[in-house]
Amino acid sequence: KTIRPLLAGNWKMNGTRASLDQIKAIGDGVKTPLSDKIDTLLCPPATLLYVATALCDDSPLAIGAQDCHQQVSGPHTGDISAEMIADCFGTHVIVGHSERRRNHAESDMLVRAKAHAAHEAGLTAIICLGETAYEHNSGQTLDVLKRELASSVPDDSTAESTVIAYEPVWAIGSGLIPTRENIEEAHGFIRSELVERFGNGGAGMRILYGGSVSGANARDLLDIPNVNGLLVGGQSLKAVDFLAIYAAF
Ligand code: G3H
Repeated sequence: KTIRPLLAGNWKMNGTRASLDQIKAIGDGVKTPLSDKIDTLLCPPATLLYVATALCDDSPLAIGAQDCHQQVSGPHTGDISAEMIADCFGTHVIVGHSERRRNHAESDMLVRAKAHAAHEAGLTAIICLGETAYEHNSGQTLDVLKRELASSVPDDSTAESTVIAYEPVWAIGSGLIPTRENIEEAHGFIRSELVERFGNGGAGMRILYGGSVSGANARDLLDIPNVNGLLVGGQSLKAVDFLAIYAAF
C-alpha cells in the first residue's frame, strides 16, 4: 500500500496579519489536481491560527499549530492546549521540534505527553526527531533516533494520528543537507523501528524529511525510499517558494 505524501510548512515565530495574503495564496495554490495525491499543511504562529483556518476553509490546505501543552487547561501562562487548537479548526500540531527541545529544555517524555494530548484532542501529532551536529559527526545518529522514537512517540500512535519528521538539527536553516545515503539510512531505520513497535500502523506512518528543503532539492529528496513528505521552514514563508516545493511532488 502506498503512503499518501504530506507537504508541511512551519512558519516558526514569523508572520503577522500582513502575511495573511501569503496563507491565502498557499491555500489557493494547492487547489490543483495534485491535491488528489498529496496532503498539504501549514503551521503559522498561534496568533494567526483561527483566521488562517477561516481563510482556507475552501482549500485542501490543512492548518496546524507548532506546539501544544500536554494538559487540557489550567494555570499554564502562555501555553495553548491541543483542545484550543482543535477549537480553532486546526487539525495538526508539531511537537518536539528541536528548537523546543533545545530552547525550552523539552524532554522526550514531555514530547510524548504532548503527542498524546494531541491524539486525545483528535489532532494529528507531527513528532520531530533528529541528531545534532556532534551526534552526527560522532556516528550516533541511529542511537539518537532509536531513543527518541522509543521515548517521544506514545503507545496510542497510529498511521492516521501520527507523523514522524526526521530533522537533523544541523540541517535546519543551514543550507546543509545530509547525503542521500544518510537520509535513506535514517528513514529506513525509523521505518523498521515503527514497524517493529506498531506493526501495520508503523508501516503506514508518514516519515517526513525536514532541514533546508527548497524547490531545488525537493524532487531528489522525495525520490528517497521512506521519505513520505517534507517539513519546510524558511521556504514555506512565501507562497511562491512553498508552491515550488508543492510542484515537485
Ligand atoms: O520545521 C522546519 C524545519 O525546522 C526546517 O527549517 O526549512 O528553514 O531548514 P528550514
